Amino acid sequence: MRERLQKTLARAGVASRRAAERLILEGRVTVNGAQVTRLGTSVDAVRDAIRVDGKRIPAPPRGHTYLMLHKPRGYVTTLRDPEGRPTVRDLLPGVRARVFPIGRLDYQTEGLLLLTDDGNLARDLMRPASSVPKTYLAKVRGEPSRESLARLCRGIDLDGRRTRPAQACVVRRGLNAWVEITVVEGRKRQVRRMLEAVGHPVARLRRVRYAGLGLGSLASGRFRELEAGEVEQLRRAVAPAGARVGGAMAGRGGRSEGRPEGGRRPKGSDSA
Ligand code: URA
Repeated sequence: MRERLQKTLARAGVASRRAAERLILEGRVTVNGAQVTRLGTSVDAVRDAIRVDGKRIPAPPRGHTYLMLHKPRGYVTTLRDPEGRPTVRDLLPGVRARVFPIGRLDYQTEGLLLLTDDGNLARDLMRPASSVPKTYLAKVRGEPSRESLARLCRGIDLDGRRTRPAQACVVRRGLNAWVEITVVEGRKRQVRRMLEAVGHPVARLRRVRYAGLGLGSLASGRFRELEAGEVEQLRRAVAPAGARVGGAMAGRGGRSEGRPEGGRRPKGSDSA
């Protein structure tokens, strides 16, 4: 959360608000290594390195941390990798909270990954019974027919167990079509295996929504804190069914990042 530098200094107990203003005007304060002498400067007390006379001020006491990361391909969704590959933790410089990923994306899958140090919410979101909708854009070999899309929606046998009803549609036609697919489970390599099973191996996979939250304009490799309302939305997504508006697929109404115009939906798909 961003706020005025003098307020951050005062909240950190460095000085009163007035005295903090004087420190800034005297050129004794740096933000991420740069001297700041303008009083209106806004800072993020969690992410920015704020120093007074060269001494870093502590981050303000706060509740849990909730982050959205746009994971690029080529990163593992763990905090450490025995094989020494880059991890999503490498993409969170300056984050001091002990956050961990909520669920996983494959090494070569990109897109929306949430991280938090709120174990309760993370556990609730990852419980299979939570049915949290996750939406992916997949670039596939060929173009799935209506029948293939309907099969994806009805369910595919993976390891002897059928996937739960999904939503799928072609959002860009062609020899390497793009398919938007929403699933409510988190089985291993689920989307890749589902599309492979209907004869359309995945060349590229990006998660664009999770529990109704979208990537928006967050650039690949960047992260941001969730707004309070977004955290609330996650809580609602795992609230008991009776307390929710709509079913498991509720919350899809957000922006449709990356969906090209002219997508078509299969007959029988209840995609909104
Ligand atoms: N499905 C996959 O196949 N891979 C992912 O990373 C996420 C969902």
